[in-house]
Amino acid sequence: MVAAAPSGKQPLPDMMTSIRIDKSGQVEIVDQLLLPHSVAWIPISTPEEAFDAIKSMKIRGAPAIASLAALSLKSYLSSSSRPSFASGEEAVEWVSKTCDYLQSSRPTAVNLGEAMDRIRSTLKQSTGADPENVVEKVKKVCEDVHEEDLERNMEMGRLGAEWLYKKRAGNGKKSLKVVTVCNTGSLATSGYGTAIGVITALFENDQLDTAYYAQTTPYHQGSRLTSLELTTLQIPACMICDTMLGSLFQHEDIDGVIVGADRVVKNGDTANKIGTYQAAVLAQRHSIPFMVVAPVTTIDLSLSTGADIHIEHRPSVEATQVRGLNVETGKLSVVRITPEGVGQGDKPWQRVYNPSFDVTPAELISCVVTEKGVAERKQGEKSIDVSSVC
Ligand code: MRU
Repeated sequence: MVAAAPSGKQPLPDMMTSIRIDKSGQVEIVDQLLLPHSVAWIPISTPEEAFDAIKSMKIRGAPAIASLAALSLKSYLSSSSRPSFASGEEAVEWVSKTCDYLQSSRPTAVNLGEAMDRIRSTLKQSTGADPENVVEKVKKVCEDVHEEDLERNMEMGRLGAEWLYKKRAGNGKKSLKVVTVCNTGSLATSGYGTAIGVITALFENDQLDTAYYAQTTPYHQGSRLTSLELTTLQIPACMICDTMLGSLFQHEDIDGVIVGADRVVKNGDTANKIGTYQAAVLAQRHSIPFMVVAPVTTIDLSLSTGADIHIEHRPSVEATQVRGLNVETGKLSVVRITPEGVGQGDKPWQRVYNPSFDVTPAELISCVVTEKGVAERKQGEKSIDVSSVC
């Protein structure tokens, strides 16, 4: 899709997408392990293929993995290789087991669980239905999960940009400097993005000075993916190493930190990519607004506080090895950056700590933006009433 252009400028270039569906209904994903150096599309026809792609991070980002899981189910149910169900009950049982399986691929992002729950509740309403009816209803929900994402991202972008601009512009300041962590753009969603959606909206309104983005080690979602999105969209941007946030806040007049989320719980505590918590601590120290942008499907009112969130730990090789383009050979390669054995051996000095996410307490968050509105933390309070934007 083509985004709107800031007044007097050329339309923004087509956005990248993580998932595409051709005319025959074949679902494909772009292999995010190879980006930004190489664009390879991988066909996904079965829930097993979707599970492997999600687990190995060929696709990632909370909304995108929910979309792929749902689309893989739809695609398999539409194919001739799907099991033939003798009864509605048999279809319900198979779909239900497949939802459990897909949900187990990555535990922290709630969007995947929410999408599977939507399918499960369709199954509950299908008692006594014939198998074809069950299959058709499930396919419709799967399609909705994918399609709803883009529209709500544009709404969050608008709401978040409006909130921040109102807060920080004025007294001669017309454009804002913001910081983001991880990758939250069209590669992590069905399009436009969450935190990057707000940044894009500021840019479209001519209200953006610079978008600083953290490299986001160890997986480099920032340097590999956010950089690709921002350069493609030609949004004024500047990469920083994760360790430079404090220095940036000391030396630049930063107007906001804008991040996505993998799970926001009842009191507003937010799980997001590792490094988000330290950005929030530093933002508070420098009185910089800290905004979380996430669709309603990322809000999990069943958990009371962030302490209840299951944090996924990733394999140590993801921290000891770096994947990139060898500038001498021009070939993609993976290099180890630690002494041999670190993360692999069983010696006490060979351990690696690699949680994929951290939890930012609501008391460090200024507001949570969903497609339904902006929930602000009230002065002096330690939590945010996110139920008001669900
Ligand atoms: O491990 P990842 O790359 O899936 O983590 C992604 C993030 O943490 C994003 O910030 C989050 O999913 C929000 S994406 C719209």
